[in-house]
Amino acid sequence: MTSTLPAPASPDWWRDAVFYQVYIRSFADGGDDGVGDLAGLRARLPELARLGVDALWINPFFPSPMADHGYDVADPRDVEPVFGDLAEFDRVLAEAHALGIRVTIDLVPNHTSDQRDWFTAALAAGPGSPERARYVFRDGQGPDGAQPPNNWPSIFGGPAWTRVPDGQWYLHLFAPEQPDLDFTHPEVLADLEETLRFWLDRGVDGFRIDVAHGMAKAPGLPDVAFDAETGLFDDHGPDDPRLDQDGVHDIHRMVRRVMDAYPGTMTVGEVWVSSEERLARYLRADELHSAFNFRLLTADWTPEDLRAAVADSLDAVAATPAPACWVLSNHDRPRHVTRYGGGELGTRRARAAALLQLALPGMAFVYNGDELGMPDVDLPDEALTDPVWTRSGHTERGRDACRIPVPWSGSEPPYGFTTGATTWLPMPEGWAGLTAQAQAGDPGSVLSLYREALRLRRGVSGGLTWLPAPEGCLAFRRDSGLVVLLNLSGAPVPLPEGRVLLASADVADDLPHDAAVWLQA
Ligand code: NOJ
Repeated sequence: MTSTLPAPASPDWWRDAVFYQVYIRSFADGGDDGVGDLAGLRARLPELARLGVDALWINPFFPSPMADHGYDVADPRDVEPVFGDLAEFDRVLAEAHALGIRVTIDLVPNHTSDQRDWFTAALAAGPGSPERARYVFRDGQGPDGAQPPNNWPSIFGGPAWTRVPDGQWYLHLFAPEQPDLDFTHPEVLADLEETLRFWLDRGVDGFRIDVAHGMAKAPGLPDVAFDAETGLFDDHGPDDPRLDQDGVHDIHRMVRRVMDAYPGTMTVGEVWVSSEERLARYLRADELHSAFNFRLLTADWTPEDLRAAVADSLDAVAATPAPACWVLSNHDRPRHVTRYGGGELGTRRARAAALLQLALPGMAFVYNGDELGMPDVDLPDEALTDPVWTRSGHTERGRDACRIPVPWSGSEPPYGFTTGATTWLPMPEGWAGLTAQAQAGDPGSVLSLYREALRLRRGVSGGLTWLPAPEGCLAFRRDSGLVVLLNLSGAPVPLPEGRVLLASADVADDLPHDAAVWLQA
């Protein structure tokens, strides 16, 4: 079954869309195994429509041994049984489309699972075989080849090379279960095109492209000048031979040629690079439609940092055809409630941050649970499942804390997430007030704030002009007349002129500290 939307009002629907990130394992379980799935997502689509999102990004749901929770893909053109099957995916697509929600999915081109047929064939075929040429196999260094081919570290910790029994080594920028493909091999590129067309023909509206700055490696695989202090996913600069190499742009041009044959579809790249200039190179007219700008995800809660994040991100795209693309949280980083201090303080700031994010020109990504004000959860060692925890020799706890299942209803774990008794990551006590059900009827809740912001946002358009603001505050105006004031000054500040549309905290004549307000000028 395929699914099509009525001709979109604009093929550029995505330029100011609000995308909702569905971390499929943690969004909603349609059964009782404690793992989220496509049936659970389908059942909750009406609630996402009520929230007012325009599109979904669904994290990988393809067959996978789950060494990296789905980012180790064993078959890019099928559905992992834990999450459902292709027929269930088609139903999700059709029902989302019927609700006016577009559906984008993850594309994981840089690597496969070590259980993909290609990789098992490569291991069996031996050194020098055509099967090995699809991956990055090399002989080791030293008299008996016992040293890895170069000094590259894996982004998850430890070396980026693993030795196989016949003595060769293969490259994996992430876990050993995620061997990197060699994109100079024509079959690898052709396979990516087949995957794109497979899902586009089914009716998906676009792709979030994983490690979109990966794929091409520096010719000759020279050593990297590695800074051991640099953390997970942080960019290692343009001299890093593992990432952001010129050859990657040819791959994006191929992807774009395919996408252009499906009008109204789009791509958003996960591009971690060292500067706004490097980011802009991915956004040329024949490459990605858009790329996450992670500056809001990494900015400190200070007026200087936030203003620079916004201004630099807008500058980055100004000379490209792409809109800006704003992210406060995702499945790889501590949630912003926690980043901003946690507890009441974190929630208060997160509410203000939401009004900042959703007022900015361009695309916005809401990570499942942002709309509830979900915090990270400290998990005991034995509950941790992220490969980062083991790969780092138990020095980095990894990303489980930001991937806790979403609380839907009730007063005890599993809060309506599953009909079973347990969840794949444990849910804490004390979340009765955080559930979607508890928040839905409360006009003061984070959920109500998001719903109202998404509703009002539909009337907001045009560019951003900075306005004069009291010390410690940011103020700007959108062309359509929305005025936004964010107060981080440490004290209440007077409200600007205009009719208050929405505020993250109670306002009278003043806007309190750590709060934001939307006004109609
Ligand atoms: C980025 C994804 O967001 C992350 O979750 C994953 O572990 C790596 N890419 C590897 O695919």
